[in-house]
Amino acid sequence: MRSLVKLQYMLAGVAAARECGVATYTAEQVIPSTAIMDGLTPPVVVGDASNLLSPPVLDLGGVWWIRYQPLDDSERGDLSWENPAVKLYAHGAFEELMTFADASSNSSTLPAEIGLAYNRMHHWAYTDTFNSYAGRIFNAADEVDTPIHMTFGNATHGMLRATSPDDQWLITKLDKDRWRRDTVFAADGPVGGARVSYILTRVVREDGSPHPTYFEAFTSYMGARQLRVHATDNVCLRRCGAWAPELTCQVPQLCDMWCELSGTWCA
Ligand SMILES: *[C@@H]1O[C@H](CO)[C@@H](O)[C@H](O)[C@H]1NC(C)=O
Ligand SMILES: *[C@@H]1O[C@H](CO)[C@@H](O)[C@H](O)[C@H]1NC(C)=O
Repeated sequence: MRSLVKLQYMLAGVAAARECGVATYTAEQVIPSTAIMDGLTPPVVVGDASNLLSPPVLDLGGVWWIRYQPLDDSERGDLSWENPAVKLYAHGAFEELMTFADASSNSSTLPAEIGLAYNRMHHWAYTDTFNSYAGRIFNAADEVDTPIHMTFGNATHGMLRATSPDDQWLITKLDKDRWRRDTVFAADGPVGGARVSYILTRVVREDGSPHPTYFEAFTSYMGARQLRVHATDNVCLRRCGAWAPELTCQVPQLCDMWCELSGTWCA
């Protein structure tokens, strides 16, 4: 009964909560000033001096593209772009952007261990492809604060804590705006020493401006695809929003109501 009364208030637009679980953005709105002009919270927090705790020498500011496509021949090399499994994954456009903003660090100098709570709202961007949509539904309830651990021994080489201790997850600086992320699978595992790589590429600079070449490359790669991000840390709203992101952002009362009624299931 209490729920029903509350529900009426919600439908009347009186309830305070107006968060939407999963928000949709155009690629252009990754530039914070563009999003703000459109009346939106920027999709991904830009890493800058106000929120970067990692050693400044690593220069991890801005917004980074999880890029599985070579931009020119110089990038083909021994990367795994042509591996059919990698191509399939890239084709699904599951995830596209990340930020190092707000990542914890045990030190402001090297060596340092960084804890990246990538699942927090506005810290990782997915897309509106079917793969990514299904992934939102599947992952919406993931622990919001569980970090990825990264250790940097020097300014060019780091190591992530792999989900399987036999695999190696490496991050290597290529130049100011590109880091290579290699995953090397265990030699005696099912894919016997295979390596899968992507290039983390800075598309927005620390001051919020578009990178002079990589931002354009990113928007043209995105084409008509849109970005999807978790716009709240409330797991129930995320779960709800994952099913119908556009609708539940336009009518956030739907998720308020659903979370209210399904309370224990969502807790
Ligand atoms: C931070 O972590 C790194 C890697 O584990 C370690 O080598 C370093 O001593 C730590 N620094 C501090 C100040 O605890
Ligand atoms: C940085 O660390 C890596 C891995 O430990 C090492 O191979 C590389 O030589 C180091 N680079 C410098 C400049 O010390």
